[in-house]
Amino acid sequence: MMMNKSDVQSEVLFQQEFAIRGGDFVNAGESSCKIRNTLREIGIDSDVIRRIAIAAYEAEMNVVMYAENGVMSISVYREEILLTIDDKGPGIEDIDLAMQPGYSTATEEMREMGFGAGMGLPNMKKNADRFKIMSELGKGTRLEIRILLDDKNG
Ligand SMILES: Nc1ncnc2c1ncn2[C@@H]1O[C@H](COP(=O)(O)OP(=O)(O)O)[C@@H](O)[C@H]1O
Ligand SMILES: [Mg+2]
Repeated sequence: MMMNKSDVQSEVLFQQEFAIRGGDFVNAGESSCKIRNTLREIGIDSDVIRRIAIAAYEAEMNVVMYAENGVMSISVYREEILLTIDDKGPGIEDIDLAMQPGYSTATEEMREMGFGAGMGLPNMKKNADRFKIMSELGKGTRLEIRILLDDKNG
C-alpha cells in the first residue's frame, strides 16, 4: 500500500500539554521552559529548539497578560513540530493591527515589568515556518505554529 505524506505526518511521536493561567506572572514562562528541556531530551536540533522556545514563551506570556486561561500543546511529528496555544479570553479585534511590530495594549504595570514591546506576535511569526492565528471576540484566540524538520531530525 502506498503511504502519502499526510499519513506519515499524522503519526505523533511525542505530545505534551500545559495549562496556563491568566494573570499568573509568578509561574509565567514555566511551560515554555519545560518544552525547551523536553525537546533537548528527545534530541531536537538546537536551532529548532531556540525557535520553538521563543514562540512558546511569547505565546505563553500573551495568555498570562491578556487572557483568562489557556492550553499550550507541543506535538512532535517526524516532519514537523506543532505548537498550539488555545485561550479563553477577550480575543483580538484587529489581527492585522496586533501583528504589527510595536503594537501593544499592555498596561503601565506590565510595561514596568518589562513587557509590552509589541514584538511577541511578529517574533512568533518570524520564528515559525507556518504561522496561523485565529481569534473570536469575547471567546478567545488560537495560535498554530509549525516548524518543519529536516530528515536529519527524523
Ligand atoms: N492571546 C491574546 N488574547 C488577547 N489579545 C492578545 C493576545 N495575544 C496578543 N494580543 C493583543 O495583541 C497585542 C500584540 O501582542 P504582542 O505582539 O505579543 O505584543 P505585547 O505582548 O508586547 O503587547 C497585545 O498587546 C494584545 O493587545
Ligand atoms: Mg506579547
